[in-house]
Amino acid sequence: MILAGGRGTRLWPLSRADKPKQFLPMHGEHSLFQRTVERHASIDGIGAPWVICGEGDRFQVEDALAGIGVIGATVVTEPVSRNTGPAIAAAAEALVRHDPEAVLFVLPSDHLVTPDEGYFESLHAAFAAAASGKMVTFGIVPTHPETGYGYIKAGESAGKVRRVESFVEKPPAEEAVKMLADGHYFWNAGFFAFSARALLDELASFAPEITAAAEAALDEATVGEGVIQLGERGFASAPDISIDYALFERTKNAVVAPLTCRWSDVGSWRAYWETLEKDSSGNAVRGKGLPVDSHNSLIVSNRADVVALGVEDLAIIAADDAILVCPLDRAQDVKQVVATLKTRK
Ligand code: GDD
Ligand code: MG
Repeated sequence: MILAGGRGTRLWPLSRADKPKQFLPMHGEHSLFQRTVERHASIDGIGAPWVICGEGDRFQVEDALAGIGVIGATVVTEPVSRNTGPAIAAAAEALVRHDPEAVLFVLPSDHLVTPDEGYFESLHAAFAAAASGKMVTFGIVPTHPETGYGYIKAGESAGKVRRVESFVEKPPAEEAVKMLADGHYFWNAGFFAFSARALLDELASFAPEITAAAEAALDEATVGEGVIQLGERGFASAPDISIDYALFERTKNAVVAPLTCRWSDVGSWRAYWETLEKDSSGNAVRGKGLPVDSHNSLIVSNRADVVALGVEDLAIIAADDAILVCPLDRAQDVKQVVATLKTRK
């Protein structure tokens, strides 16, 4: 089940509301969304993908799937966006009506993951735990006190997974520093696995308004070949909340499957720069950029020639109709800037 309804605003001006980052070829020919599908297509026992996205993203999703030869996918569309809690609940409700025994593997569509030897083994351990009723998260070993992630405190092992002692979504900076120093925390990768039935029951105990909205949205849904359009009245009645706050901060039934692969959520221009190959001065260039006497900078330009002369630690992003220049260290603030820009129009 691939979550493809995010807007990727921190990667403005390339990532736009009508073509957010998951649908862009950020690392080579295929988009992050297509690479996510391809990475998991040949796992034993996995079915054709389900994708949950906004109504306006449907054709883009179908084109992207056709572009990599995927057939038999199901696209679930949201009439309004309510974040990942209601999106996952509605998709689980749709799936459980189709297959009451279904085990769901939920993936973000916009991450760059390079599987290592243990990756698929960890997934299989996670799926087994999910089939036995656990709410499974995936843990990444943290490297810095990032405040944009969830933090998972891991307890004792049960085979290849570990019990979750606590889950803290997007902590304040001081708390993130403490959790990093503690050494027992993972970052939440943003992948999840659960039995669809167990997820809905667990979620109903904390947030019955979400599961009720999911049921109503399915009762009113328009179902076609490979597409389930959720009903607007039902779905809109759900609160806007992520699965992290709605479920994982509250459940006592979670486990974490540690991952050791290379992982990036490509969450900002800085994070993107980190994923790219650099020249000997630390510059990364995509498209028509030319760094001269410049260091540790990112230049992205599809059309115009962009020359960066004598600059350091900058992101320079030239889209067809907008240009961003900012220190890589301020890359997190782009989201706020985009919100301000919207109010000016
Ligand atoms: N269908 C749908 N509908 N998808 C959505 C929606 C929605 O309303 N909102 C977000 N998504 C998709 C995004 O495209 C992304 O693939 C995924 O769901 C996660 O949403 P983000 O908005 O990117 O979440 P986040 O990055 O702030 O936090 C999550 O990911 C972190 C790791 O990258 C949390 O799970 C954190 O705990 C985690 O550390
Ligand atoms: Mg994200």
